[in-house]
Amino acid sequence: MILQMAGWKANVPGAGASISPLGNLVPSPRNLAAFMKRILVTGASGLLGLNLCLKKHQNYTLIGVDRGKLRATPFELVRADLTEPGAIPRLIESVQPDAIIHTAANAILDACEADPQNAYLINAQIPAEIAAACEKHSLQLLHISTDAVFDGTKDGIYSEDDLPNPLGIYAKSKLAGENNVLAVYPAAIVARVVFFGWSLSGTRSLSEFFFNKLSRNEPCNGFTDVIFCPLFVGDLAETLFLMLEKNLGGLYHATGAEALSKYDFGRRIALQFGFDPDLVIPRLVEDSGLKTSRSHNLSLSNHRLSTDLGQEIPGVSTGIQHFHAQALEGYPQKMRSYQQG
Ligand SMILES: NC(=O)c1ccc[n+]([C@@H]2O[C@H](COP(=O)([O-])OP(=O)(O)OC[C@H]3O[C@@H](n4cnc5c(N)ncnc54)[C@H](OP(=O)(O)O)[C@@H]3O)[C@@H](O)[C@H]2O)c1
Repeated sequence: MILQMAGWKANVPGAGASISPLGNLVPSPRNLAAFMKRILVTGASGLLGLNLCLKKHQNYTLIGVDRGKLRATPFELVRADLTEPGAIPRLIESVQPDAIIHTAANAILDACEADPQNAYLINAQIPAEIAAACEKHSLQLLHISTDAVFDGTKDGIYSEDDLPNPLGIYAKSKLAGENNVLAVYPAAIVARVVFFGWSLSGTRSLSEFFFNKLSRNEPCNGFTDVIFCPLFVGDLAETLFLMLEKNLGGLYHATGAEALSKYDFGRRIALQFGFDPDLVIPRLVEDSGLKTSRSHNLSLSNHRLSTDLGQEIPGVSTGIQHFHAQALEGYPQKMRSYQQG
């Protein structure tokens, strides 16, 4: 039997359940798992997906979709390549989720430029298929998009009402993805994000780039002319689950509360870890020789989100402190222990 609780499905608890003085049904500890929302998380081996699953697996029944990189995780795994014909309906049939958080993507800019067809398949077509399946089964969907949908030429802060103008294949395919999702399933949440943290490979995030260089006492470039609003991935995970809990829908900027240059971000990482901040060399992105063009001003307002959540989204300073604290706790090593082979 299925109970509807504020839009969340839960199995009715069996023996041991009781009624609280306020008349609420209280599950016995034995049956608590039956009350936890089942959430399918795509991209479970990715920077966002893995951090998200590790942070919240005790609060929800999380089932991560993995292509074979992970082992012995403290959350459930299901093996699937989302681009295989029929993969999405099969996943929904076997997992029976209440919600999907779709983080999987081709998020490597140069790889997208090299293979636009694949970029559009994974970043635009698969989100449309997931949205159609969620609409059909009335599942909540939280689709992850990017701050890079903007060309960065605005003299000011971007809101959700500003017109996107993506520069490269990655950003274009991600914009197509968010448009597809909202066209097929307007009740879905589309969250534009930019974040940092520890990853399975140890090299995926900008924060790891600075950490790896600075900890070896090597100089590294920091762009002074690229402004962004990064959110620590742990704070992003909390924010995303709150968005689901509050049953939000539509387009949101789930970005950090503070805009800063990538150069300043590098210096802040250095200062937090006690490395030499002067190892971060101020550079212009034009002079960097990067193949794919980058937007200069990605200052995004999270006002709509903080208003609808009724709370502020954290800034970068506390995020860098948490990133440092995780290093002291051995979190990067623990994370890598879940790597296959
Ligand atoms: N990193 C950022 O700062 C940033 C900024 C803005 C937006 N975003 C968005 O945030 C989301 C997560 O990014 P991320 O940095 O966590 O990405 P990531 O570390 O590159 O991870 C991508 C994930 O997608 C999975 N994946 C790719 N193709 C797949 C397929 N065909 N079938 C199943 N899984 C597949 C990957 O699996 P494998 O490990 O098996 O390849 C991996 O788990 C993406 O939507 C990205 O566009 C990221």
